Amino acid sequence: MRAVVTAGDGGPEVLSVGEVEDPRPGAGEVLVDVVATAVNRADTLQRMGYYPPPPGASEIIGLECSGRITELGEGVEGWSVGDEVCALLSGGGYASRVAVPVGQVMPVPAGVSLVEAACLPEVAATVWSNVFMTAHLDKGERFLVHGGGGGIGTMAIQLAAARGAEVYTTAGSPETLELCRSLGATRAISYRDEDFVEVLTEVGGADVILDNMGAKYLGRNVSALATNGRLVIIGFQGGTKGELDISALLRKRGSVTATSLRARPLVEKAKICCEVVENVWPLVAAGRVRPIVETTMPLEDVARAHQLMEDGGRAGKIVLTL
Ligand SMILES: NC(=O)c1ccc[n+]([C@@H]2O[C@H](COP(=O)([O-])OP(=O)(O)OC[C@H]3O[C@@H](n4cnc5c(N)ncnc54)[C@H](OP(=O)(O)O)[C@@H]3O)[C@@H](O)[C@H]2O)c1
Repeated sequence: MRAVVTAGDGGPEVLSVGEVEDPRPGAGEVLVDVVATAVNRADTLQRMGYYPPPPGASEIIGLECSGRITELGEGVEGWSVGDEVCALLSGGGYASRVAVPVGQVMPVPAGVSLVEAACLPEVAATVWSNVFMTAHLDKGERFLVHGGGGGIGTMAIQLAAARGAEVYTTAGSPETLELCRSLGATRAISYRDEDFVEVLTEVGGADVILDNMGAKYLGRNVSALATNGRLVIIGFQGGTKGELDISALLRKRGSVTATSLRARPLVEKAKICCEVVENVWPLVAAGRVRPIVETTMPLEDVARAHQLMEDGGRAGKIVLTL
């Protein structure tokens, strides 16, 4: 089959499309003919050699896809050959076929094309699991998501707003700040020209913060928390080693959590996908949460897609079609 192959660890130029052996669906898996996949920031880390696939996962990059089921592995029930699906993957998405544990296979939400559906699983599962299952963001609470223009950010703004939270976000360019407001952010804060701590402190602090920056924002995030606030760290674009003022956290009775979706056991990922289908897909079908696609390009342009992701200043997801 066609798949993205890497010539060692390095920049986008190590990526190209080649021929590799087809995957086979194991027990409890389905084989999907991939129609589209999408680029995630973690893919760029894997390409550079900093984020190896977990044991047993495909070596091929790609954390999500959409396509059609072509084969059912032993013991799979509830799906048929020909079904159009999207899927959360531990790897293997940048390829024309992928074997997927059945718990990570989801229907395509109503009103979304099969190509667009490729960019939903990773962001929907990450935002739902962290913001709602872990941090329990409630209706009427104040929510801050950093990087509001990114794949995660655009999903987090829409989902939190649709569930009745008051949404604050940080972003870089005026265009991205405008997009964040159009998606439901009450206040979009320029991370270049403004201090998000000041903005949040003025309104009483954030009940939940979803953070992509890690070390760089650790202290400031704790300062921006409300009493009983929950900080969930999912990325380290600003480094991995920070300093935490325990007394500041303690005074706020705050919590700091960090999670990774990819390494979770199958049963946890299946539960997350179940909750996504139950809670997020109806909002997508109702048009209240939509896939935000910056650009769509053929798989052959994968190196350009990674360069675009690393250049920043985009809005939403980059989709690769097969
Ligand atoms: N732990 C997990 O399970 C998990 C799962 C999925 C994603 N993630 C992480 O979540 C993060 C977002 O992923 P993604 O795929 O959505 O990437 P993305 O689309 O590239 O989004 C990253 C965003 O970060 C913003 N940013 C850059 N510098 C910033 C700053 N100083 N302050 C605030 N925002 C800043 C960028 O804004 P500009 O372009 O405007 O500069 C961009 O919108 C990544 O760190 C990724 O590794 C973690």
